[in-house]
Order: sequence, then structure tokens, then C-alpha cells
Amino acid sequence: MNALVRTAEAPSYAISAWPNYNEVMDGLNALLKQPPRGIAKANMAKVLDYFETKCPTSKAWAKRAAEVIPGGVQHNLAFNYPFAIAAAKVDGPYMWDADANRYIDFLQAGGPTLLGSNYLMVREKAHELIDQCGPVTGLLHEYEFKLAEVIRRYMPNIEMFRMLGSGTEACMGAIRLARTYTGKKYVIKVGGDYHGWSDQMVYGMRVPGTGRREATGIPKGATAYTQEVFPNELGTLRRKLMLNRLRGGTAAVIVEPLGPESGTRPVTQEYNAEVRKLCNEFGALLIFDEVVTGFRVGMGGAQGYFNVKPDITVFGKCLTGGYLMAGGIGGPKEIMMSLVGGIGTSSSSKRAFVGGTLSANPLSCVAGYYAIEEMARTNAPLLAGRAGDRLAKGLKEIINRLGLPYVVYNMGSIVHLQTSAVLLMSMRNPIKLMKEANARKHIMEEMGAAYLAHGLLTLAGSRIYTSMADTDAVIDDALSRFESVFQLV
Ligand SMILES: Cc1ncc(COP(=O)(O)O)c(C=O)c1O
Repeated sequence: MNALVRTAEAPSYAISAWPNYNEVMDGLNALLKQPPRGIAKANMAKVLDYFETKCPTSKAWAKRAAEVIPGGVQHNLAFNYPFAIAAAKVDGPYMWDADANRYIDFLQAGGPTLLGSNYLMVREKAHELIDQCGPVTGLLHEYEFKLAEVIRRYMPNIEMFRMLGSGTEACMGAIRLARTYTGKKYVIKVGGDYHGWSDQMVYGMRVPGTGRREATGIPKGATAYTQEVFPNELGTLRRKLMLNRLRGGTAAVIVEPLGPESGTRPVTQEYNAEVRKLCNEFGALLIFDEVVTGFRVGMGGAQGYFNVKPDITVFGKCLTGGYLMAGGIGGPKEIMMSLVGGIGTSSSSKRAFVGGTLSANPLSCVAGYYAIEEMARTNAPLLAGRAGDRLAKGLKEIINRLGLPYVVYNMGSIVHLQTSAVLLMSMRNPIKLMKEANARKHIMEEMGAAYLAHGLLTLAGSRIYTSMADTDAVIDDALSRFESVFQLV
């Protein structure tokens, strides 16, 4: 029997060992103290030559896109240096661009495709559904409750589930739910955490301590009850909760359970349990944003791994296995009933208003149901985690051997490869932030471009998502490609 097969009695998690917090932070701080160190100038010319000579179709399309799409890409954080590469085909661990160049795909669509890209069984179920009733009907569909049931099976804390359209919507809805349930207004987030782009969450984005710096087009009132605390600082969180108690109370503390930006700045292993205790003490709800961790860390999510029960859980990404409209809110029935749906219920009960035309469409639900069942059957979180372990171990070995200052660590299938430590900068040192942030960001871009030129697709040149499709052979191939890139530094 496959040793990795999961049993109901023994849930398994992708994280084989929690990163040593002090060691990671020491490494990142040392990296940040050094002058930025990326690809050597002469070598960068060769990297850029790859894009000129091998990617003419992407280049032409990027030009067309820039005429009609602001910035030429459709997401704030999409990689577009030197220009966006256009995807033509994906399969398992690989992506082919419009010029038929093949890449090992560690972007994995931004995280959802834990089974590997375009997984056949889920695709077949999606086809069947579309043949039967099309992607959407506006009525209850059997896979809506089947999806909710399957989530509850693996995450027993999720007694009820509300399906929405994206992680952003779900975070927004979760906050509204917390405010409705508690009757309190303040929401505390961790600086650097990403909870989507709703008015109230574009606050302390990426760089801790920056508050409204990115809140362009968002009136002050929209963030008047949003607060941030520095990552891992429990004392500051306690003080904020105490102060808020004097002015009406905190509705919720919302966290990314691995730490900001999926653990780009990791939390200590005890952090979530300590936040839970503080929430209990001050009567605030704890919201776990499991948009990335939901099923990637294990079928029980980060809440299972840390053994911490949040009051509200936010889902996205893996929820629909890479199919459209991935977002949802889950929690105990008592809290979730504040999201009660249906026309007749609006006048008889106090409820938070959420939902959209295409939320909970049958296509998303059928894809999610089969993707989650398949992740459990194949033990995909663990297999992807093993691939992440192998990759992180190999990268560390190469970096040490070449004497580079870079920092690598992983939380299962989420591998962080930090070459500039730009995301460690904060408002604690605003002069350094102002002076160096752009140069450090550019290093990340150049590294990302160099990885691409060597057949490696990463998330913004610093994060790597592995999937079940990443066999040892794929990882070993990737490692030799990474080594070729590091030799250009
Ligand atoms: C932790 C976290 N929360 C929320 C979101 C927002 O999800 P979406 O992009 O589906 O709106 C993301 C997206 O990357 C995320 O990583």
C-alpha cells in the first residue's frame, strides 16, 4: 500500500517541519543588510535576449494587450517583466507558452491547482456538468450542498458554508459576518497580510506599517475601523484589543495562518494559538484566511495543522481545484446563520447581505467537490508537500555551495525563495524602505525573468507552489535549472 495514503483516523499535513523562525529571520535580516545582489548585468542581457528571440508571440500579444488592458495584465500582482508571457497550454507540472516554450509550472495558477494543472478527472466532471445544464442556472444545484458536505467532512469546524465568487469577496463577507454577529466594528489585520482588494482590506498591504499607503480611491471612512499590527507582535495586538474595548470592541482579528503573503514572513509556530487566546479574552472572532492554505496545507487546512479553531474560515483557490469563482465562508452554524439566504428571511432575521449572480454556480461546485475528493483520495497535499521539501532542500544545498546569501524555506508545497528580502522591509525603517525598495523589487523581477528564461515559472520570482504532479524527476530537473540561474549572479 502507498505509504502516503491518507486515512480518516490519521489526517496528514503537508508541512513536515515548521521552519525555524529565528533561523529564517536571521537569514532574511542578513540578506536585507547586504546591498541587493541579483543577476550580473552582462548576464541579464542574455536573459533578456531569451525573451526577444524565443518569445515573439508573447511579445506581440503583450503589446496588443497593453493597448486595451491597463498595464497589459489583469491582476495587480501579475508578473510582466520584461513583458507578460502568454500561456497556451498546461498539463500536470508544465506550462507551454504561445511560442511553444515549455516551463515547469511553479506558479500553479497562483495556487489552486494542487492536483497539477488541468487534472483530467475534474475536467471530465466539469464537461459532463456543462453538457447537462451549462455552467449556471440560478437555482439550487445538488453539488452546492455536496461541496459544503465534503468541506465539513475534512474540516469539521465548518458546519455551514456560504459559497462566493473569490477570496476577496469571501474576506469582505467574513468581516461583515463578524460585525453582524458581534455587533462590534473594529477589525485587526496583520501588516503585510493579503486579504484581497476590498475597500477595508487595502490597508497595511505587503509592507507592515504602511496603513493606507495603497488605499488609492478608497475614502478614509472605509478603513476607519481597520487596524494593523506587526507580524508576530502579540503585545501590540493585546494593546489594540484593550483600546478597542474602550471604544465599542473588536469584531474580528483576521490572519493568514502561515504569516503574511503565505508565510513570506513566517509566524512562529505558537502564534495562531496565542491569537486565539487573545480573541477569546477580548470577545473578538478569529478569522482564518485559508484562501491559500485551505487543502494545500492538508485536508484539515491550517486550522487542522495548528490545531486552532477559528470562528470564521475564508476559502478560495483550491476550493474549486482551479476552476472559476473560488471563494467561500465557513464556520459553526450559530455564526453562519447570520448569512441566512432567501427572500423571505430578510425581514424576519438580522442578516449580513452577501451573494452574487454567479456565486455557487454548478460548475464551480462540481469542480470543487471532485477536486477536494480527489485531493483526499490521492493525498495530494502530502505529495505536493514532499515535492516542496525536496525542492527547498535542493535549493538550500545549491545556494550554500555557491556561497549566495539567499534564503530558502518551505511550508510543505509553499516554497519561499527570497533573493532580495524586499518583503521584509517595513515602516520601522522608512528611509531604507524609500531608498532600497525599488531596487530590491527589481531584483525579484530580474530573478523571475531569469527563471523563466531557464524554463521555470514562479510566482513573482520569489514564491514557488508545488503540486502533486511534481515528481522527483521534475523537481531534480528544476533544481538543475535553478542552479544555472544562480550561476549568473
Ligand atoms: C491569503 C489570501 N487571501 C485572499 C486572497 C484574495 O483572493 P482572490 O484573488 O480570489 O480574490 C488571496 C489571493 O491571492 C490570498 O492569497
